[in-house]
Amino acid sequence: MAIRETIKARRSIHSFKKDVVDTAVLKEIFTYGSYAPSHYMKEPWRIKLYQEKGKQHLVDAILTSYQRLGMIPKNQHAKTVRMLDSMGQFLLDIPHHAVIYLPIEPDPVRYEEEYAAVCAFIQNAQLAAWEFGVGMLWTITPYMHDPEFVAEIGLSKQEKIAAVLQIGYPAKIPRDKGRTPIEEKLELINE
Ligand SMILES: Cc1cc2nc3c(=O)[nH]c(=O)nc-3n(C[C@H](O)[C@H](O)[C@H](O)COP(=O)(O)O)c2cc1C
Repeated sequence: MAIRETIKARRSIHSFKKDVVDTAVLKEIFTYGSYAPSHYMKEPWRIKLYQEKGKQHLVDAILTSYQRLGMIPKNQHAKTVRMLDSMGQFLLDIPHHAVIYLPIEPDPVRYEEEYAAVCAFIQNAQLAAWEFGVGMLWTITPYMHDPEFVAEIGLSKQEKIAAVLQIGYPAKIPRDKGRTPIEEKLELINE
């Protein structure tokens, strides 16, 4: 598929088949991601890829964080247990979760540069994935900002989670929502 076609055809995927994506394919996808530009060639992206039985630890940490953040009650009521079960199962059914993180730079300008590079990495990876028939959902969720969650998945205070990618073969491809004509966003300054 030509790059221009892929850019327009890629969709964020919300429902995945249960089939796993081969690790070699995922490595290739992230290798394409790593061709993103980065200032001083810092290549600041880091990836924790949760799959197979490894997902359980991530999902447990997510659910505990949701309870800590007050998004799920902390009691043993049947309704709470059902909610935890169904959210947990929904997350476990997604074949792969990639936590994308970066080292926190003390200098705010450098930090902005590195976060920007990581975002470029993610979009490159999403586009490459699409060409392999693999779908992704780029998510930014409250637990990413919960320091206890960050520690629970083995990251330090010197590391920031940029995104969590849900990955797998698409079960359903959403319709193209189109885009605002660029003229509405573009100001030409010719003189
Ligand atoms: C930084 C970022 C965060 C996002 N977070 C979420 C999210 O938490 N949940 C979600 O369903 N989609 C999320 N999305 C996906 C957008 O909803 C999606 O890209 C947008 O609706 C356009 O759809 P498309 O990607 O299929 O063209 C996020 C996208 C970006 C770039």
